[in-house]
Amino acid sequence: MAGETIVIAEDHGPSRTLLSEFLTRRGYHVGLAADGLEALHLIRERTPNLVLADVAMPRMSGLELTRRLRAHHTTSRIPIIIVSALKDAPDVLAGYAAGADDYVSKPIDLNILAVKLEQLLTRESAHAGQGRFGKVVLLLHSRGGSGATTIAVNLACLLMPSSAAGVALLDLNLEFGDAARLLQLIPRLSLVDLATHTSEQVDEPFFTKFISRHALGVQVVIASDRPEHAELVTLPAIQTAIDRLRQRVDQVLIDAAPSFSEHNLAAIDMADLVLIVSAPTAPALAATQDLLDVLDRVNHPRAKEMLLVNHNTPLGLSPEQIQDIIGRAPDLVIPYSDRFVEAANAGQALALTDPNDEALLTLRELAARIQEAEHTLTETQASN
Ligand SMILES: Nc1ncnc2c1ncn2[C@@H]1O[C@H](COP(=O)(O)OP(=O)(O)OP(=O)(O)O)[C@@H](O)[C@H]1O
Ligand SMILES: [Mg+2]
Repeated sequence: MAGETIVIAEDHGPSRTLLSEFLTRRGYHVGLAADGLEALHLIRERTPNLVLADVAMPRMSGLELTRRLRAHHTTSRIPIIIVSALKDAPDVLAGYAAGADDYVSKPIDLNILAVKLEQLLTRESAHAGQGRFGKVVLLLHSRGGSGATTIAVNLACLLMPSSAAGVALLDLNLEFGDAARLLQLIPRLSLVDLATHTSEQVDEPFFTKFISRHALGVQVVIASDRPEHAELVTLPAIQTAIDRLRQRVDQVLIDAAPSFSEHNLAAIDMADLVLIVSAPTAPALAATQDLLDVLDRVNHPRAKEMLLVNHNTPLGLSPEQIQDIIGRAPDLVIPYSDRFVEAANAGQALALTDPNDEALLTLRELAARIQEAEHTLTETQASN
């Protein structure tokens, strides 16, 4: 397999030329950088298929480059091979700890390097073209308490009966996630435990251990088990979890925390549909407007967005007032129902305790629209 782009970050000119000529001869396109910082700029301009990085370089080392790439949602999954003269166990382990996929010591045996490259590139392309894909529906909100989790949990229950392969719910609120609790589930593992494994190690049987199954069949995965573990959840762990879930089920619902963290940006990149949940009050709508503006600025397609105004208070504004503030008509207005609070107090989803509640009927409509949107998305993808 050739034609892929490989960025070489190497400060030693002759070594850079040797690698460049070798890879070009094998049919790869090559991008050259004389240090980590130059490589970072090059990679951010145009995502390569793989990065080869030396460790000791001026301005930015290969280890720091690896860490920076892993911490950004658009570069977190690029395969990285560290190439270094440092070959003692602590150096090699430091390379893996920074997030490298492989470590090749100098002087380089080019034949071994070629095999390792090929393996990583094949793995990535197999990954990208993998079979069936469920749709990813992300719930975003700008202010805590908008009702995002309430909607996510109930939607999961409502989608379940008409989903042939099932529904998954990923709680991406790293610090104070409560989606599992609302379904009375206590997951044993969280994505904190996935962070130390590469996506290659996370096969289907292994990933199954991260799933808690509700009686209705909804498969729940939580990002973090405790607030203080939040920072241990890596971007590749989240991306691997989303990939794994979408291979198992028809819909993956993701409940995000109110922020524009890299974790949420990674989820936005992978989402087929983003549901923006807003409370119906002036301050909440102003914050939602800010959120919508950011989505516009990162060129998120409006066709993949739905604005949900959720009356989590009986004192909300009218639809006209809402449209005046936000400049967009809501796609759906969910009425106030104190039964949500009663159900939450009972540790249940309203969909299970009171399926005919008026607010729940609106959520049923939302479930139907999501399924419709999925068909449209699938048809668009098929015709592309
Ligand atoms: N339509 C509604 N009518 C009445 N109460 C509601 C409605 N939607 C949500 N609530 C209540 O509002 C409270 C906050 O809801 P929820 O926890 O789902 O918000 P959230 O957006 O997930 O908050 P956080 O950002 O803290 O995760 C809960 O007590 C919930 O029962
Ligand atoms: Mg929540």
